[in-house]
Amino acid sequence: MSDTPLKPVSQGPAWAALATHHAQVKQQHLRQLFKSDPKRGERLRLEAAGIYLDYSKNRITDETLQLLQGLAKEAGLRERIDAMFRGDKINVSEGRAVLHVALRAPRGATIMVDGANVVPGVHEVLDRMADFSERVRSGAWKGHTGKRIRNVVNIGIGGSDLGPVMAYEALRHYSARDMTFRFVSNVDGTDFVEATHDLEADETMFIVSSKTFTTLETMTNAHSARDWSLAGLGGDESAVAKHFVAVSTNAEAVSKFGISTDNMFGFWDWVGGRYSMDSAIGLSTMLAVGADGFRELLAGFHEMDEHFRTAPFEQNLPVLMGLLALWNNNFFGAQTVAVLPYEQYLKRFPAYLQQLTMESNGKHVRLDGGPVGCDTGPVYWGEPGTNGQHSFYQLIHQGTRLIPCDFIGFGQSLNPLGNHHDLLLANVFAQGEALAFGKTPEEVKAEGSPDWLVPHRTFEGNRPSNTLLLEKLTPAALGKLVALYEHIVFTQAAIWHIDAFDQWGVELGKVLAQRIIPELDAKAAAPAHDSSTNALIERYRQLKGA
Ligand code: F6P
Repeated sequence: MSDTPLKPVSQGPAWAALATHHAQVKQQHLRQLFKSDPKRGERLRLEAAGIYLDYSKNRITDETLQLLQGLAKEAGLRERIDAMFRGDKINVSEGRAVLHVALRAPRGATIMVDGANVVPGVHEVLDRMADFSERVRSGAWKGHTGKRIRNVVNIGIGGSDLGPVMAYEALRHYSARDMTFRFVSNVDGTDFVEATHDLEADETMFIVSSKTFTTLETMTNAHSARDWSLAGLGGDESAVAKHFVAVSTNAEAVSKFGISTDNMFGFWDWVGGRYSMDSAIGLSTMLAVGADGFRELLAGFHEMDEHFRTAPFEQNLPVLMGLLALWNNNFFGAQTVAVLPYEQYLKRFPAYLQQLTMESNGKHVRLDGGPVGCDTGPVYWGEPGTNGQHSFYQLIHQGTRLIPCDFIGFGQSLNPLGNHHDLLLANVFAQGEALAFGKTPEEVKAEGSPDWLVPHRTFEGNRPSNTLLLEKLTPAALGKLVALYEHIVFTQAAIWHIDAFDQWGVELGKVLAQRIIPELDAKAAAPAHDSSTNALIERYRQLKGA
């Protein structure tokens, strides 16, 4: 890549300045930082696109922020952002543009790829999705036996599942309650069987979601769904047209499967799987919340896109959070980030973020193939609060690892119930406070603890966290949150000079599985792998009793 700097970013002057600075500030405790600047919590906060971010509980000074901004500039973040929005082929290893931002561009916007404006095509698909969703939701679309569709089963995996299932759970409050939504992803037959065991075939619509329409898990599940559907509908092949739709970029494979392209909703190779929940891959979301709800979601995405594209770096939420994550990862050595939504509807948000962040930034080489020279994507994980507090928070508070946390809370509950919401939010604020300030041995002693117990009850503190507050979980708020994390990922990738949009790391396992499949047949020749893999295959053959 001609525009990739010759050296890893970690060998540049901005990184060196940060390393020197880190050595100077790493011993400073958040207790001191707040004491010496009583207004720190009011200063180190940022509000944009309806999201309030408190980042004061990070182990940073004003100088840290300046140096991080310097790193972003030196790494060419501005140029990378412009290149993405311009439609440049910044996914270099696959030779593709990266334009999930076009999926939420308003009608009338212009975004060019290979000399053509892609926005009209986006809205054409959205309009078809809206029309289809309306017909299904209203009951105008009839199944093979004339009954309306009450059950929707999305079949997909990775980006063709995690976004849809996360969005359905997140927006369940707004969903059609007279319909059932299920999601099948795993090639483990249990997933399909359990998802369909109480459904009637004549009321069930399958959405086969696959960008490539070749993915083993999805195609296996799609064929089982076809068999299940036909078995329940008397074996009449013509039933498929009423009970199957496809979302894909591969029209040929969709037709070959037996789904008419009239029942196919397309998208484009410039939409990465993990960036596709706002494309036609979101068809189940639209069926659940309606076309207006889906458009509200897209508007939320777009608001964050515009903020990311235009706000100066110091006031740019994704840039700031991306830089803070990098500071914790590359300078403090934090290997993971916990994302802790205090909102039950966001229970699948951490799982969604795992693919977004780790499939994007789990890379060891730069755009030009040279070694990246520093740690890249941290492990993302999390659970909704307050559940996690009674499980893994112990390790975050008193373990030996540094685990930066992103807390997410909302001002209003979608289900007000007594004082539940105050109790929930009191816990978010308490956790951030406890992590930052801890409890000193003196404080523990003053409470009357015997000396031997003091170390056990001491909280070192100085654990960094961000707290994000939004008014209410709406479709727009969800769009803003997802776009925020998409651009956080982008910011870090731009600084490391890695390709956040390919996923070669998933290929080897897929290829080896194809080789192993025929070897699992008891009558097949002896497997030809290493001794461990051979023995496992042999034992499986015995265990399955073939
Ligand atoms: O796991 C690799 C991957 O290619 C993901 O990036 C993608 O989201 C998923 O598989 C599903 O791919 P498809 O939508 O083509 O079935």
